[in-house]
Amino acid sequence: MQVAAPQSFRRVLSSMCTEPHPAARDAAERFLASNPGDPTTYPTVSALEDEAVGILGEMTGLENPHGYIASGGTEANIQAVRAARNLAEAESGARTDSPNIVAPESAHFSFQKAADVLGVELRLAEVDANRRAEPDAVAELVDDDTVLVVGIAGTTEYGRVDPIPTLSEIAHDAGALLHVDAAWGGFVLPFTDYEWNFDHAEVDTMGIDPHKMGQAAVPAGGFLAREKRVLDALAVETPYLESTSQATLTGTRSGAGVASAWAAMDELWPAGYREQYERSQANAEWIAERFEACGYDVVDPVLPLVAADVPRKTVEELQSLGWRVSPTGSGELRIVCMPHVTRSMLESFAADLESL
Ligand SMILES: Cc1ncc(COP(=O)(O)O)c(C=O)c1O
Repeated sequence: MQVAAPQSFRRVLSSMCTEPHPAARDAAERFLASNPGDPTTYPTVSALEDEAVGILGEMTGLENPHGYIASGGTEANIQAVRAARNLAEAESGARTDSPNIVAPESAHFSFQKAADVLGVELRLAEVDANRRAEPDAVAELVDDDTVLVVGIAGTTEYGRVDPIPTLSEIAHDAGALLHVDAAWGGFVLPFTDYEWNFDHAEVDTMGIDPHKMGQAAVPAGGFLAREKRVLDALAVETPYLESTSQATLTGTRSGAGVASAWAAMDELWPAGYREQYERSQANAEWIAERFEACGYDVVDPVLPLVAADVPRKTVEELQSLGWRVSPTGSGELRIVCMPHVTRSMLESFAADLESL
């Protein structure tokens, strides 16, 4: 029996996945069977991982990054919460026995999973009129039991960037860590004026995913920490492996993800990613104008992501024409201008929209 062909990206407009770069695809194939979870047995892929983390450090303003290529943004977020909780527990006399984390309500749903599996309370703060974290609302929810404050650098639904330096002050005043979720935004933000990275503020940990805007193969996320003690807080001993300890959440990991992350970044950082950002941003602004011309309210694309107040019935009609589009929690149609989303795809989509 023949394996089914994977579906094409020709009509995929709301996904944060994309076609991997050819170099990433090739590297993924070659390292399919390597396990970076056991770096002593698989040193070649492990060396690629160290280099990949080094490039992620360069992209995020961190000279000596500690981290690894994770399975995705979800794992990075879970690990950030886990590290913060473990460090608070290890403080003399354990700082709290009922830890909480505070995030804006725009945070990705993976924080709900993190809170659930780690037994930590998740407090969600209201966002402002521009859909960014509101520092006063965050500060109000922070207390002596807060172990982590979360800021988002490129929110999933609207591409908003939270005020990271202010959130960092709020976190540190309370003795908590600051985690920045740049899972989607991290590969476009280096080409903007936003303050979002380790160099702009006292950020402790960050998630940044090569398998989203970075054009690596799935699974390739990134977890970064400013200090080694954060990774140490995640490490467990590994008696039956050649390597002696492991800080990752998964055990056996994808060598394909690691090698493809390295290959994509080696190929594209920085010039290729800059070009990609400029193309995606121009596409986002173009489709935003087309939505407006059709009379829809548009959430302006501050990063390459557009949401427009298109009625559900129209969204359903577009879906029945084969467009893979999905609404935000508030019902807007959302288009993520990923690398595979070309101007001609958007022209064809706009023509369908206008004909409805
Ligand atoms: C901001 C943000 N964080 C985390 C995630 C979760 O990433 P993953 O699906 O790779 O686990 C996403 C996914 O879209 C995201 O947009």
